[in-house]
Amino acid sequence: MRLAILFALGLAIGAIATANIVSALRQRDAYPRGLMNVMQHDLGALRSDARAQRCNAGATASLEQLRGLAGGIEPAVYGDDPADPPFAEYARRLRTTLPATVDCKALPKALEKVGAACDACHREYR
Ligand code: HEC
Repeated sequence: MRLAILFALGLAIGAIATANIVSALRQRDAYPRGLMNVMQHDLGALRSDARAQRCNAGATASLEQLRGLAGGIEPAVYGDDPADPPFAEYARRLRTTLPATVDCKALPKALEKVGAACDACHREYR
């Protein structure tokens, strides 16, 4: 009987500890994943603007937000630690591929380069 109670107690403690660890891990990733998902959203919005050749204030806002988020990739992933040099280089390359302004004629090609810069980092770090 005592053994059964101890066993049940052990299971319960194990389950609680596991839930805590899982939740801590999820929280740790929430910031970088949130940042990545919003960048994905902005890139998707820009792609549909490019397809529709819609170069309005909305497209400019998406580009500006993407630029702002791309500027914060390293601290989102590494916190206060210095980023891996190759990682920082991929982030820098993404920032240099972002077009300065929304130019409808150049936008489709520019977005291809942006997408390639996202993928280059993901191949190594995601
Ligand atoms: C310098 C590296 C780097 C660059 C550049 C980069 N990413 Fe990421 N991305 C990551 C890492 C690392 C993860 C994994 C994050 C995690 O799971 O904690 C990730 C994950 C993601 C995810 C999945 C998020 C989730 O919910 O799991 C999406 C979507 C994403 N990135 C979109 C993008 C887009 C769009 C771009 C370009 C505009 C981009 N990323 C550029 C490093 C990068």
